[in-house]
Amino acid sequence: METCNVGIIGLGGFARLIAVALKESKQVRVIAGADTDPHRIEKFKEETGIEKAHCNAVELLPDPEIDLVIIATPPVYHYDLGRLSLSSGKHVFFEKPGALTPDCMSELIALAKTKKVKASIDFVMRRNPLYSILKELCNMNLFGLPERAFLENYAHDDSLPPEHWFWDYEKSGGIWVEHGVHFFDLTNWLLGFPQKCQGDKIPRDSTGLVDRVLGTAYHNNNAVVSYYHGFTKPEEFENTYFSLIFERAYTKVKGWIPVKLVIDAMVDPEVEKYMMEDLLMKARAYLPGIDISLETRLLKNWDSNAMFKGRGKEYKSTARVRFTYQLTKDRWQVYRACIRQGIEDLAQTIKGEKPRPDVTLDDAKKALDVAVMMEGIRC
Ligand SMILES: NC(=O)c1ccc[n+]([C@@H]2O[C@H](COP(=O)([O-])OP(=O)(O)OC[C@H]3O[C@@H](n4cnc5c(N)ncnc54)[C@H](O)[C@@H]3O)[C@@H](O)[C@H]2O)c1
Repeated sequence: METCNVGIIGLGGFARLIAVALKESKQVRVIAGADTDPHRIEKFKEETGIEKAHCNAVELLPDPEIDLVIIATPPVYHYDLGRLSLSSGKHVFFEKPGALTPDCMSELIALAKTKKVKASIDFVMRRNPLYSILKELCNMNLFGLPERAFLENYAHDDSLPPEHWFWDYEKSGGIWVEHGVHFFDLTNWLLGFPQKCQGDKIPRDSTGLVDRVLGTAYHNNNAVVSYYHGFTKPEEFENTYFSLIFERAYTKVKGWIPVKLVIDAMVDPEVEKYMMEDLLMKARAYLPGIDISLETRLLKNWDSNAMFKGRGKEYKSTARVRFTYQLTKDRWQVYRACIRQGIEDLAQTIKGEKPRPDVTLDDAKKALDVAVMMEGIRC
């Protein structure tokens, strides 16, 4: 198989972004779609020029030309459509969350194994070079143990009227399941799985519509992570940042699809060199088409014998330096590249070029495990 042929089930807002992202792919091409809404089908045909469009998944799945199915419907249908697609022998790329419960995700994992097909999920954070830098810092233990992380997500709700499926727990699973999984996967990846979580849901008013959630996770490596999601802003005024604090570094990633990472760290010459050379080179190669610039600023200089103490530990440092890593493309170009990379990674797995995708359905299940702990369904 030279090119991996894709059929998308669910031709709404996000499917359109996927289709645009895949236009630039040499490995994957969209050849068909299915939606239960005829207007969405027409729009998809118009925008993509693709003629093979069906009014449901059952009609799309027998198409022998389709290798890979992308499920981009509202979350409530992911499990059923996932079962159907995997059962028919198709490889599947799930939009998040992939299922509403960890048990349903476990069934999908088992089914993919039985049918000997590959599956992955669209956790775009994993693809971002700036988060890959944080992953390297965790792996390298460059600045000591991670101590704390927090997410502040002031997201937009101006396109989400009260009747939208997003607010309906039966259809979306709620904010922790529908959206929180992105960040639970990120912290599972960076810090390992949490041993304890507690979350709160805050309704907007007496209608009971939950538009804010707040939660804390305690990770096995002793890091404490807080998450706040508020779907409360106009798109023009949304603001997201994720901070990860190590014993000897403060890091802050800005934006829901981040394009800037600032690290304020205690370094020695060797660490400073690594941050400016090897780490930068690795991050620049992480996401094809997305380059990174680096600006450094010396905040303080210390004597080479200066000793510091913190958390019962003693260490040397010669300088405090601010590193600003900036992606050279705008957030939409980065977003599309992240989506494309996830799907191409699955395509490479399907072609046998690698044993498994970078992001697996086991990761999807672990993210759902955290989401249900936050919901208080299981502790
Ligand atoms: N990974 C990301 O960054 C990201 C971002 C936004 C949305 N999403 C995910 O994408 C998915 C879709 O979100 P959206 O904003 O595009 O929603 P949407 O409501 O715009 O589109 C969903 C589409 O699915 C169709 N549909 C519903 N049931 C169907 C069925 N049984 N068979 C075929 N089509 C069906 C609807 O008619 C609609 O056109 C959700 O799971 C959402 O969480 C992911």
